[in-house]
Amino acid sequence: MSELWLSSSVRSGWRSALLIAAGAFASLAAPASAQQPPAGNAHQGRIIGYTCLGCHGIQGYRNAYPDYAVPRLRGQSVTYLINALNEYRNGQRAFPTMHLQALSLSEQQIADVATYLGGKPVTAKPVPASKVPAAAAVCASCHGANGIGVAPMYPTLAGQHESYLIRVLHEYQTGYRQNPIMNAIAHSLTNEQIRIVAAYFSRLEPGLHTVPRPYTRWSSGH
Ligand code: HEC
Ligand code: HEC
Repeated sequence: MSELWLSSSVRSGWRSALLIAAGAFASLAAPASAQQPPAGNAHQGRIIGYTCLGCHGIQGYRNAYPDYAVPRLRGQSVTYLINALNEYRNGQRAFPTMHLQALSLSEQQIADVATYLGGKPVTAKPVPASKVPAAAAVCASCHGANGIGVAPMYPTLAGQHESYLIRVLHEYQTGYRQNPIMNAIAHSLTNEQIRIVAAYFSRLEPGLHTVPRPYTRWSSGH
């Protein structure tokens, strides 16, 4: 993009005027796009996402130290995935591998890869409140009794790995992962309640899945 601007402006002889205009445009565009992420392109995201599948595309792949399953992303809210990647990028979520991954991506690439990895958001029938264990009742107002986030900024928990949910709730409890709502909620949970809610949400179907790997030795890449 910037090279195009430059070569065309050199040709036209308006180089400095266009560079100033380009600079002004970029500084105007930045704050607006920080509020509203750009629309993602799943095709581009699939190319970027290839490296991500080394971990997120392998069934049951686990983080080594500490030991817990790498989160499932297929069916997750794309808005939440974009938020999560921005949080890894700016350090609100501390995880060295994901920090480096997110740091290497532009805002557009984050939207693209989130759109590809999330795919079609998972949907499910409502679950009656009577089926929800007492410890998970408070969670349902945002994450749904059926485990599907009630709005795009609330992650879907249905079908997420149990070990990941337990890990994350402890991270919110200790403040290692920062989020005002979840820090307050996790503080009030006992270890027994964490076990109950993680078991409940992880077993809900339909739910999240591991992203299928599009390229294998035998496929044509489609
Ligand atoms: C080396 C393995 C590895 C690679 C490669 C990797 N991830 Fe991750 N990813 C993880 C782990 C482990 C976590 C959970 C980290 C935590 O506890 O916060 C995670 C978390 C995430 C989350 C947050 C999910 C949630 O439910 O909150 C997103 C989004 C994500 N990764 C996207 C990506 C993208 C996009 C790429 C490629 C650009 C990528 N990851 C590459 C291991 C990996
Ligand atoms: C008022 C709304 C609200 C309620 C109630 C709530 N959450 Fe959350 N939850 C959120 C938001 C917002 C996030 C995303 C925070 C972030 O980006 O770290 C979140 C994130 C999470 C995550 C991380 C998901 C991931 O993929 O990494 C887990 C796990 C979770 N909540 C579990 C629970 C449980 C269990 C309860 C009930 C005990 C609960 N939440 C109640 C709003 C809520």
